[in-house]
Amino acid sequence: MHKDFPSATSNVELHNLSREELIAKIRAYQRQIELFREEQRRLNTLFAITRSLSQELDLDNLLHLLMDEVKETLQADRCTVFLIDEERGELWSRVGHGLENFEIRFPKSKGIAGYVATTGEVLKIDDCYSDPRFNPEIDRKTGYRTRNLLTVPMRNKMREIIGVFQVLNKKTGPFTDADVRLLEAIAPIAAVQIENAQLYEELRRTFDSLISTLAHIVDARDPQTAGHSHRIMLYADEIARIAGWSKRDREVLRISALLHDLGKIGIREHVLTKSEPLTEEEYEHVRQHVELTKSILQKIHFSRRFKDIPLIAASHHERLDGSGYPDGLVGEEIPAGGRILAIADMFDAMTSRRHYRDRLNFVQVVRTLKEAIGRHLDPYYVNCFFQISLGRLLEIMEFEEDEWVRPADLKWLKNFTLGELARLFEKEADWPEWALMFLRYYETAGSQNQNREE
Ligand SMILES: [Fe+2]
Repeated sequence: MHKDFPSATSNVELHNLSREELIAKIRAYQRQIELFREEQRRLNTLFAITRSLSQELDLDNLLHLLMDEVKETLQADRCTVFLIDEERGELWSRVGHGLENFEIRFPKSKGIAGYVATTGEVLKIDDCYSDPRFNPEIDRKTGYRTRNLLTVPMRNKMREIIGVFQVLNKKTGPFTDADVRLLEAIAPIAAVQIENAQLYEELRRTFDSLISTLAHIVDARDPQTAGHSHRIMLYADEIARIAGWSKRDREVLRISALLHDLGKIGIREHVLTKSEPLTEEEYEHVRQHVELTKSILQKIHFSRRFKDIPLIAASHHERLDGSGYPDGLVGEEIPAGGRILAIADMFDAMTSRRHYRDRLNFVQVVRTLKEAIGRHLDPYYVNCFFQISLGRLLEIMEFEEDEWVRPADLKWLKNFTLGELARLFEKEADWPEWALMFLRYYETAGSQNQNREE
């Protein structure tokens, strides 16, 4: 029997009660049943929060999820999680109700949140503006009026305070002791998940910067192919997006694209930058970059999610009919990512200036791509490639040059696809203005880089 439940009453006793006493007893029972239901709702919330938090590793998503659940459960108007930035001695929050699109920061010792973060005390205030610890600065910045609040510290496994949970303006009056208990139960679960997400974010940043540094090292070996790996990544990602690939598969493909030519770091520089045709021996030497890419990448420890990267990256010179290298794979033996990279690589090679030639005429680029369908390139993914807009193609060709294409032109050219342009090329008739505009931009692409090199 719950300690708050009215004491049991025998049938005999009930008979002796007056009508009023009976009604009072029934009301007491009803109140207790309500309290039990309330308690059950809170427990269910706690379970639901624990379950959903454990599945989320993105910090912003996690914070959003937490704040929405807590706001809902505590019937509050707003909820914010402030995290401690030890290096700067500040509390900060970038997601919170009423904080959309701006990050708020203030000294760690300031306001109620600062007080709780410093002392570790729980604060429940029923009238904020009459409490001297309340910092009205945030209200002034956000144009909000805080009436009452509840703030609890969040401690990690080491019992260190990593931030505070703050809920504002309960809709049904001041916050209750039951609200305090619930938030105190949620806080440590949230703290552990937030730390995990922060750690994951940090690892991701390290990983991403390592990948892009490797890509830059490859591209830097030859100024004329500068940006090649990055462009391949952007073209490949467009193809995968159009083909409806999942977020996760697209990420694997983007990394494979950035690293596809990594093996070129092992190729002799004079061969890479030679402007005359390569000898047979030199050509063989260049072809080895794919095997090198594979063997270097296989030495890197990739998590299960990224384990296919070495195979995808090293299959960008395979051809559908088996005439490619290094393994002469045929059709679907070539990983789908590799088939996409082959298209992106071929397109970029033709539309970039090389030591031994200028970029190809665009009509010729389209013709070559089409001729390669089925023999060299996968028809399905080429079809996806032809669905990329002309505006997006120009953006990728010159991804380092902002506003190289006039914004209005870019917007217009995003209405037409490469496929539509390709169909025009088959006709003799006059080409419309958008096609001529695209070709004019294409002719001047890369001239900025050219000037820099001179
Ligand atoms: Fe390559």
